[in-house]
Amino acid sequence: MRILTGIQPSGLPHLGNYFGAMRQVCELQEKGESFLFIADYHALTTSPAPEKLRENILNLAIDFIACGIDLDKTVFFRQSSVPEVCELAWMLANVSPVGLMERAHSYKDKIAKGFAPNCGLFTYPILMAADILLYGSNLVPVGKDQKQHLEITRDLAIKFNNQYGEIFTIPEGFIPETVAVVPGIDGQKMSKSYGNTIPIFGKEKEIKKTVMNIVTDCKGLEDPKDPDTCNVFALYKLFASEEEIAEMRQNYLGGNYGYGHAKKALFEKMWSFFEPMRKRRAELEADPGYVEEILRKNGEIAREEALKLMKKVRAAVGL
Ligand code: ADP
Ligand code: TRP
Repeated sequence: MRILTGIQPSGLPHLGNYFGAMRQVCELQEKGESFLFIADYHALTTSPAPEKLRENILNLAIDFIACGIDLDKTVFFRQSSVPEVCELAWMLANVSPVGLMERAHSYKDKIAKGFAPNCGLFTYPILMAADILLYGSNLVPVGKDQKQHLEITRDLAIKFNNQYGEIFTIPEGFIPETVAVVPGIDGQKMSKSYGNTIPIFGKEKEIKKTVMNIVTDCKGLEDPKDPDTCNVFALYKLFASEEEIAEMRQNYLGGNYGYGHAKKALFEKMWSFFEPMRKRRAELEADPGYVEEILRKNGEIAREEALKLMKKVRAAVGL
């Protein structure tokens, strides 16, 4: 079984990225052949400054390795090390109805938030489909927000196969319900583009401050509180054991337990959870040449794999 996912190098990885994607990838690499890439072509849809993009790519590579990517089991590469993915996106663009792209939630959301709609953003799902299909992926672990993109991928693969013969494997998404949407500090989906994230790595003081800024209702210390509508509780659940969750629930319901207490408990859980990964990260940060070399070598492996499929695709369409 081939497992594949990608993540955009668009800033500090946060709890949503970790629980929605990074942890799944680290667990799934035990179950099959894993491909993981840094979606640097996709990052261009929001026109980042070149220097910033370069820095983000390296940082994300360091973050992923620190979080437990096993380089013996996972091909970890840059999307742009395999330019054929753009060629495949072009092939797929020619079986992609415009209406299908217009209906993509992520596109509609970005427009609603004021992003200028360039064609890269519009055809984003086609490039994503190419990423997935190019490596014959069976399983694609992602957060719930990517579900529609996976459906589009399947649609395009089926359409292409109907028109040109059985070329593509039809992939399945892997979207665990328990961590489907990690809320941000304002209660919306946690996302770099909404400025509501809690980064997994960073300075203790800054992370603590962010946790203390999580939005809650304005019940007083003595009042009983509702755990099920509270962002702090939702985040705490990601780190705590069943018993700890039950205990925290009682604290909320019982009153005389303030949001400040809950936030402090959340911060402590989170800080110790990421402790070993922070250590590994510091070692990698001191040796960027090692990380670059991993990306380069793995890029070659991925490209070799991609070329096999591209050969079939070119022949199938008549090139
Ligand atoms: P962002 O929204 O911060 O830009 P990305 O779009 O780069 O994050 O997402 C990278 C991966 O992390 C994707 O698989 C995505 O589904 C997952 N992810 C992002 N935010 C969340 C979230 N709040 N909850 C669950 N998964 C998430
Ligand atoms: N669109 C994904 C995101 O923003 C990143 C991505 C690009 C991806 N290509 C992919 C994820 C292929 C899974 C498979 O999160």
